[in-house]
Amino acid sequence: MATLEIKHLHKSYATGKQRREVLHNIDLTLKDNEFVSIVGTSGCGKSTLLSIAAGLEDFDSGIVAVDGKPITGAGLDRGVVYTLLPWLTARQNIEFALRAAGYGRGESFDLADQHLQLVNLMEFGDAYPSELSGGMKQRVAIARALSYRPKILLMDEPHWMR
Ligand SMILES: Nc1ncnc2c1ncn2[C@@H]1O[C@H](COP(=O)(O)OP(=O)(O)OP(=O)(O)O)[C@@H](O)[C@H]1O
Ligand SMILES: [Mg+2]
Repeated sequence: MATLEIKHLHKSYATGKQRREVLHNIDLTLKDNEFVSIVGTSGCGKSTLLSIAAGLEDFDSGIVAVDGKPITGAGLDRGVVYTLLPWLTARQNIEFALRAAGYGRGESFDLADQHLQLVNLMEFGDAYPSELSGGMKQRVAIARALSYRPKILLMDEPHWMR
């Protein structure tokens, strides 16, 4: 069974009185352990597709399913590498996601530590995003997305993370 299956996906945006279709009949199948990069010209709809897969954006028609089950919104089965919350430290950013995912306080602290270690940032756990380099922020965001063990990791140009 496919981990992520997108079939006959259509998505349009309303701009003023008009609607513009940005995704037309898109099919994408992602299996376990597959790494897929989506490449295309600026404005072709990559971020839109990713946001739809993340459950953060709705769509006009088609199927978006994880393990055969249509998605109904964002879910812990899909981790999104996204900008850090600037008012929280690196460790708190990870803990915050874990707490939202239902982990207890102690477990969240331990898992945050483990994932800071995983991305080699133990020394920067108490640093705020503004005190981290671009690459460090990117690693914290990846650690945060991995910490609650999603089946799928979705990354939209994480090398551009500010
Ligand atoms: N919220 C929105 N409302 C209206 N149009 C939008 C919205 N978001 C994106 N679009 C339009 O949808 C199209 C696809 O945008 P998208 O951000 O998915 O492109 P992209 O492939 O990620 O581009 P880039 O490589 O520059 O990041 C663009 O024409 C953009 O103007
Ligand atoms: Mg984009």
